[in-house]
Amino acid sequence: MPLKGEVTISGSKNAALPILSACLLTGGWHTLDNIPKLKDIWTIKEILSNLGAAFEESGQSLKVNTDNLNSHIAPYALVKTMRASILALGPLLSRLGKAKISLPGGCAIGARPIDLHLKGLSLMGADINLEHGYVVANVDKKLRGADIFFDIPTVTGTENLMMAAVKADGITTLHNAAKEPEVVDLANMLKRMGAKMNGAGTDTITITGVKELYPVRYAIIPDRIETGTFLIAAAITKGKVRIKGCNGDHIEAIIEKLLDIGTEIEKEGEDLVAIGHHTIKSADIKTMPFPGFPTDMQAQFMALMCIADGWSVIREAIFENRFMHVSELRRMGADIKINGGQALVSGKRHLSGAQVMATDLRASASLVLAGLVAKGKTEILRVYHLDRGYEDLDLKLSLLGSKIWREKQ
Ligand code: EPZ
Repeated sequence: MPLKGEVTISGSKNAALPILSACLLTGGWHTLDNIPKLKDIWTIKEILSNLGAAFEESGQSLKVNTDNLNSHIAPYALVKTMRASILALGPLLSRLGKAKISLPGGCAIGARPIDLHLKGLSLMGADINLEHGYVVANVDKKLRGADIFFDIPTVTGTENLMMAAVKADGITTLHNAAKEPEVVDLANMLKRMGAKMNGAGTDTITITGVKELYPVRYAIIPDRIETGTFLIAAAITKGKVRIKGCNGDHIEAIIEKLLDIGTEIEKEGEDLVAIGHHTIKSADIKTMPFPGFPTDMQAQFMALMCIADGWSVIREAIFENRFMHVSELRRMGADIKINGGQALVSGKRHLSGAQVMATDLRASASLVLAGLVAKGKTEILRVYHLDRGYEDLDLKLSLLGSKIWREKQ
């Protein structure tokens, strides 16, 4: 069933999480606009209220006040459900001089170490110990500026160190920093709060510590992965979808790849209009740090290649285990062979509906996309993974004409 109509993109999950954590850096009322209603946002709010933060909600805006922080601990019960909780570490060390954050542990897509976060913070003078599954960090006086080199670009590592550095003594330089739009969004909010920094969005970010920061009102950027997911929904169903309130500059690698396989994409102001072509050409991808093809779009692109003409090679170069969706897509008739960090996909004429299991956030999006075009009904179990990162995806898709509904298990 070709999707037809228009959809409005929600605020970016991966910008909102560090930006909410940054509210720990100073007291007063922050107002954040375009906050998406997601499970992960609920989790970070739980972590912040555990620390003493107060909230006021009004529509898509969220007011946050951290005047009365009364704890420095992020407990395992909450952190185990969302690794991005580690983003409280830098701001708490800056504000309170101490933090005790449960080690996030691995997740479905990989071990997800935080060694680069911890190495950077110790270079800034923090005393870091791992005790009973917790990162216990202290700093006597203030964090001090340091020269930090990331041997691999880490998104939340860059964000954690940026937040630790904005009120440190002296200058911090982050080399081989992550360049994702979410890093730039956090930097823009920190500068609005009075931070002195430049280079966000490039390999090298320089931050000069300041004495004071101030609460702000700030609007989160649109979610580029949700945008990419809807572009692929239009391509895979050969429909025509207007995607409103998005930023095409954040997803050039995805747009380029979809143009290569025959999708028509027009930029019209803040909208993208995507028209799926009746034949889907095959294409290869390799996931890379921004501005390369994002790992968070690999599973969704693989679903599209399952019904493309010919072979495609999909290389996952960021995470060691991000092919959990492959066995589920195979249950739907996909022809995929895994060889180390790459998957060889041979496009089929069609997929068939089946009962499948969601394993992680983006894998569940991939199964929804496959289910849109499979012959017969597809039932996706453990769909709570989807609700971590997509606001009302089923409602948005049904408004575009797809037959998708939730059933109580
Ligand atoms: C962020 O995770 C995103 N999450 C992920 O999105 C995204 O997949 C990932 O960046 C890559 O783009 C948020 O922003 C909340 P990394 P993050 O540190 O920061 C290794 C989604 O679906 N590494 O950039 O945890 C790591 O193992 C989620 O929304 C270290 O070795 O990812 C990986 O191989 C999933 N040591 C690579 O770096 C470290 O200290 C990139 O990871 C840190 C990372």
